[in-house]
Amino acid sequence: MKAVALTRYLPIDDPQSLADVELDTPTATGHDILVRVEAVSVNPVDTKVRSPKPQVEAQPKVLGYDAAGVVEAVGDAVTRFKPGDTVYYAGDITRPGSNAQFQLVDERIAGRKPASLDFAQAAALPLTTITAWELLFDRMPYAIDGGGNGKSLLVIAGAGGVGSIAIQLAKRAGFTVIATASRQDTIDWCKRMGADHVINHREPLGPQLKALGFDTIDAALNLADTDRYWTELGELLAPLGHVGLIVEPRGELRIGDPYKAKSIGIHWEMMFARPRFRTADMGEQGAILDRVADLIDAGTLRGTLSDTLSPINAANLREAHRRLESGTTIGKLVLAGW
Ligand SMILES: NC(=O)c1ccc[n+]([C@@H]2O[C@H](COP(=O)([O-])OP(=O)(O)OC[C@H]3O[C@@H](n4cnc5c(N)ncnc54)[C@H](OP(=O)(O)O)[C@@H]3O)[C@@H](O)[C@H]2O)c1
Repeated sequence: MKAVALTRYLPIDDPQSLADVELDTPTATGHDILVRVEAVSVNPVDTKVRSPKPQVEAQPKVLGYDAAGVVEAVGDAVTRFKPGDTVYYAGDITRPGSNAQFQLVDERIAGRKPASLDFAQAAALPLTTITAWELLFDRMPYAIDGGGNGKSLLVIAGAGGVGSIAIQLAKRAGFTVIATASRQDTIDWCKRMGADHVINHREPLGPQLKALGFDTIDAALNLADTDRYWTELGELLAPLGHVGLIVEPRGELRIGDPYKAKSIGIHWEMMFARPRFRTADMGEQGAILDRVADLIDAGTLRGTLSDTLSPINAANLREAHRRLESGTTIGKLVLAGW
């Protein structure tokens, strides 16, 4: 099968940083389904895993943690899918990734592809959707059905991949959503995703919130730079508020006052935790993706795809990594077709 892989960890401008390779097609056993990959999305984690370092892989390493495709074969313990079904999933960072014509994925972390989306639109969703859903509804104490009613939520980096779906899920939960964006294109995108207000994360947040009538906020998702907004969020969050984090801090975070004085809940989300540690509830990820497929097909949520490159090959994946490393992508960038 065709795949895109690395053996050395090189700057993205080096043609060897991601190369076209031929690999053996794997075989499905146990709970695995073998998926014919039709489209993949790229995420910042791809560039973090690929970042330059001296390590050398003995075998080609395939990256990619978002895919949509068709079930080709199933293992003997599979109950949720059969050959011919269409699926979407983020997968497991400890296993070979989705930048290959065929990929094995545990059926418990895959969902049925939304019927109203094509493969490219579907591939845009899984990793960021699982992240936003688990953060808001599994880690933080909110429920999708009205858990945000009467509450305000600040979403830092609203136009990013995670922000784009977090805004929509939070609106569905009933929050008043204030997103942040720094450019006209990203401001417009946040409004299209459903944000009630958009403020600029390159300026102090407090005065902008005050001008909108918010002296405090009930909850915040810091989806871009944990350290940079930490002190300011501690001041802005209301007593008994909650903050959600997904980005590794560069330095130490002071979790005492004002966070302690106000009894603010601090919540980490790592979307690969369930598959990586094979937690007893890892099947929740498949259930989340099925539920989101229903919400998409009902028109309650919309896709977050902003651009598609074709075909899936090393040159286009290097271009996708280059764009992601600029930190200015909007919504999701997808690659489709072989
Ligand atoms: N823990 C987990 O499970 C998990 C899961 C997914 C992602 N992540 C991490 O979360 C981060 C965001 O992921 P993503 O996929 O949403 O990224 P993304 O799509 O690349 O985000 C791009 C957006 O971020 C905004 N941005 C850039 N720098 C910013 C800053 N300093 N402050 C506020 N906004 C900024 C930009 O908006 P403007 O152009 O308007 O400035 C841009 O639209 C990444 O570090 C990623 O690795 C973690």
